[in-house]
Amino acid sequence: MEGAKDPRNGGDSSPKQVSKKPRTSGHITEQEIHEEFSHHNLNVARINNGSFGSCPGSVLAAQKNWQLQFLQQPDDFYFNTLRKGILHSRTVIKNLINADDVDEISLVDNATTAAAIVLQQIGRAFAEGKFAKNDTVLMLHCAYEAVKKSIQAYVTRAGGSVIEVQLPFPVNSNEEIIAEFKRGLGKGKANGRKIRLAIIDHITAMPCVVIPVKELVKICREEGVEQVFVDAAHAIGSVDINVKEIGADFYVSNLHKWFFCPPSVSFLYCKKASLEFDVHHPVVSHEYGNGLPIESAWVGTRDYSSQLVVPAALEFVNRFEDGIHGIMKRNHEEVVKMGKMLAESWRTNLGSPPEMCAGMIMVGLPSRLSVSSEDDASRLRSHLRDCHGVEVPIHYQGLRDGEEGVKDKDGVITAYARISHQIYNKFEDYCRFRDAVNHLAENRQIRRTISPE
Ligand SMILES: Cc1ncc(COP(=O)(O)O)c(C=O)c1O
Repeated sequence: MEGAKDPRNGGDSSPKQVSKKPRTSGHITEQEIHEEFSHHNLNVARINNGSFGSCPGSVLAAQKNWQLQFLQQPDDFYFNTLRKGILHSRTVIKNLINADDVDEISLVDNATTAAAIVLQQIGRAFAEGKFAKNDTVLMLHCAYEAVKKSIQAYVTRAGGSVIEVQLPFPVNSNEEIIAEFKRGLGKGKANGRKIRLAIIDHITAMPCVVIPVKELVKICREEGVEQVFVDAAHAIGSVDINVKEIGADFYVSNLHKWFFCPPSVSFLYCKKASLEFDVHHPVVSHEYGNGLPIESAWVGTRDYSSQLVVPAALEFVNRFEDGIHGIMKRNHEEVVKMGKMLAESWRTNLGSPPEMCAGMIMVGLPSRLSVSSEDDASRLRSHLRDCHGVEVPIHYQGLRDGEEGVKDKDGVITAYARISHQIYNKFEDYCRFRDAVNHLAENRQIRRTISPE
């Protein structure tokens, strides 16, 4: 493994420190928060931080500063600044997630790239005959679509099989998830197959649920699953992360979703022992074979500024009372409050108990909206954007065989909205959404609104 003293790894291993600690006084004001996000389109009730995140003005300014430094003297920047800056960002993350060593942290573009790193290594093991044909990869049925496609591209084509675990939804408890997961492991191991990899979301994208990841990783270990990859795209900045306690081999989280970095930057944690697996950045460049953190720190000429602003993002969150923990608490409390307000107004339900959500929550939509397919859900989302200025993802929840579903007074609830709360959101954002849905439901306008012609 490459040490922090390796010159390619930033050389000087003591870059300018940014305090991990939040300020104890002089916290950011509501007016300052408003100014930090004044580039947002104020005509839109943006209650979808989950999809693309958000980046405050002060972090954007820091990013611009890095870009200018590069453009002023690219060669000097490349030889003397870039690696140190990336090492500094990796050190900040190591401390935030309780990793043992900075060499366990690589910076990559996004969770999709991290999935490629993990899955290509599995695909190579199938292709090179190290794994038996039909050995398997296990994932939740609602794993992120790009991750599912990556499994198809890298694993299935190389001879691996796939087992999907159904996530119960609406969900009432961790025990329901754990029971389904154990059933899936049983299926995966049928006929003497080996489960070579389990992919577990920390917070599923759609529908969103916080998964009992530590418990599931432990079960994987007990059941002999060889590698565990946690897709925690939504985690950093919305739930506490302690990678040592979680115990997975690989753990990825997007810093551009809930940690205020610009698009795009993610960290991929690889447990020290798991770096022995044949992991490589999918874009091969000069540093191939020098360890994943170093390979990832140079993938050819490009803009590395989003990777360099992680300390600036930490400075931003430390302007809040109790830093990132204060922000997480505030977002969770507010999103639960807003979810309850909407469910009460529409006389529907929440998709999970509050303790199974972080900064996003699922809220049932009135059955009178008659959403009866994925297409209906996506047309409803477009209608809310185009005609009501509300940005919110809609999830279609079809009934499976024998399932009764949750009902409101008019019928079965077949759609849920995923609302997010981030520090820039206002009560009025949710009121606008509430009123738009009530208007559609009262006027029974929706079939005309969301049907194709
Ligand atoms: C659970 C999950 N995994 C992976 C991703 C992919 O993230 P990115 O588009 O940054 O690669 C997302 C994006 O929303 C996600 O929600």
